[in-house]
Amino acid sequence: MSGEGAAWAAYWTGASGDDAAVRSPESAARLDGYWAETLAGFVQGRSNLDHLELACGSGAVTRALVAAAGAAEVELPRLVCSDYALTAVSQAVKTVPDACPAGAVADAARPPFRPESFDLVTSQFGIEYAGLTAFTAALPMLKPGGALIALVHIADGPIAAECRANLDLLEAAHEADLVAGMVRLLRMARKVDGGGGNASALARQEAALSNDINALRQKVLAAPQGPARDLMQRLIQDMVTLYQRRQAYAPQDADGWLQHQAAELDTYAARMRSMLDAALGEGEIEVLREAAAQAGEFTLEVGRLAFEEGGPACAWTIEIGRA
Ligand SMILES: C[S@@+](CC[C@H](N)C(=O)[O-])C[C@H]1O[C@@H](n2cnc3c(N)ncnc32)[C@H](O)[C@@H]1O
Repeated sequence: MSGEGAAWAAYWTGASGDDAAVRSPESAARLDGYWAETLAGFVQGRSNLDHLELACGSGAVTRALVAAAGAAEVELPRLVCSDYALTAVSQAVKTVPDACPAGAVADAARPPFRPESFDLVTSQFGIEYAGLTAFTAALPMLKPGGALIALVHIADGPIAAECRANLDLLEAAHEADLVAGMVRLLRMARKVDGGGGNASALARQEAALSNDINALRQKVLAAPQGPARDLMQRLIQDMVTLYQRRQAYAPQDADGWLQHQAAELDTYAARMRSMLDAALGEGEIEVLREAAAQAGEFTLEVGRLAFEEGGPACAWTIEIGRA
């Protein structure tokens, strides 16, 4: 599995099932509203609907579709939640137990489904992670009259800006390599605590690490509010506390905790990088437009969704219909 794949697999292992793409309740409500309205319109007047959610994460769109179809009394004979992270698929199939969706672990760029097998293929901040080919790979899976409906990261939107700010901070932490410095410092300190070692070398090392920590703290304070900033603040504080209370911890537990924190930061950075790589700009939307036109029997509608009235666009809305 690639670094990004492992990062998402780890995310869904630890996640509570919340949306991975947005943080604030207002933005989550806006996404829910978009899907409620769009899916209510789509299910209207249809009798049976086979649905596939690509890069499903915890299955947010499947949940919205189950609600819309229930309100419109439309049967959903086949629901499939697909993601390349097994941990995501496992979560998604659990979140709508009554509707019993099937799970499929698959790369959205190479979907393992027969042609014309779905009336509706959806994705929320997911399909674009597999590249533009995932959009064209989805088209043959649509039955006549079917549609691909996706909310897609927008390259110059606020989510991308937040990812960039998070990543800058995580990269600064990676470069400072505080965890390795703290592991070395703890080793020296334990020797001195035990009556051996070199106390003045320890003092110099303490001063050097303290400088590095302070430099990173300045960057953290200067960074915009957000989860990476909160995480870094907590981590710096916990590392300082760990050092001060080192005698209360077994060396292997303290070192293990520090290694775990370093791995968490790298995983988080990989996730931010993948979100930035996935976001589509105007140029890629044009490529999609041409691909849909060349495929002949498809119509493409692209819009922009803002999280607040009059605010900047946070996502592309992409609807590709099959005649
Ligand atoms: C930002 S999360 C969004 C998840 C979910 N759709 C949501 O809105 O909460 C991106 C998802 O895409 C999945 N993903 C990334 N690359 C993928 C690929 N090539 N094929 C399938 N899934 C992929 C990740 O595992 C992750 O679950």
